[in-house]
Amino acid sequence: MATQAKPDLTRAAPAHGARHVAIIMDGNGRWAKKRLLPRIAGHRAGVEAVRRVARAAQDMGLECLTLYAFSSENWKRPATEVSDLMGLLRHFIQSDIDEFHANGVRLRVIGNYRALEPSLVQLIESAMARTAGNTGPVIAIALNYGAQDEMVRAAQRLADRVAKGDLATHDIGIAAIDAELDTADLPPLDLLVRTSGEQRLSNFMLWQAAYAELYFTDMLWPDFDAHALAQALDAFRLRDRRFGGL
Ligand code: FPP
Repeated sequence: MATQAKPDLTRAAPAHGARHVAIIMDGNGRWAKKRLLPRIAGHRAGVEAVRRVARAAQDMGLECLTLYAFSSENWKRPATEVSDLMGLLRHFIQSDIDEFHANGVRLRVIGNYRALEPSLVQLIESAMARTAGNTGPVIAIALNYGAQDEMVRAAQRLADRVAKGDLATHDIGIAAIDAELDTADLPPLDLLVRTSGEQRLSNFMLWQAAYAELYFTDMLWPDFDAHALAQALDAFRLRDRRFGGL
């Protein structure tokens, strides 16, 4: 990953205390089904929710919002749905990058995005490069992302460094692994939200979630909005985080 600016820590800490929220955006298909619409209509409504929630995250003072848009397992879906999702992602970056940039947002993509279609890779890299020098919050999109795959890629890079003699095996600790993950330059994950009533992590940010608070809501992703994010942050504020201590 190219070097990126560090998060701006000079802004006053918001009352909820969360720096980094990640969301498993689930329930687009069920939202569409309830309305007798095709699944793509649910994904389109999901993009509208992404816009609302990205704006709300900026207003609420988050340093980073990470959104699980396409998992490394989502390739198992029918080719038409995969192609629809890629089209929506492409269109989203093209149409929203100006607003992100104007608001000082840094757009990041995590996951093995380099394996995507070359013109999409180019679009992603140019959007990241254009916003890399901004000092506002990070909106990170997880694309072709799987936490196990992220850890495998990190382990391979560490093994390469050991093989080259740049790193000693006994120097591989938590910090060394952290530094090789796609999220290396992002703030620690505070809150992981999943919509649609499912209560599992589905291979999302497994390492980073070690001490994150988990928040599950029955709301389907296309219905999620600023109020729903505020509710999640209220719940987070009331959690007693001990990180293994007393
Ligand atoms: C899960 O709903 C959602 C996804 C697999 C894709 C999420 C994608 C978007 C919200 C749109 C594109 C994103 C961006 C950032 C522009 P599901 O299809 O599994 O729903 P279901 O479980 O109800 O079938």
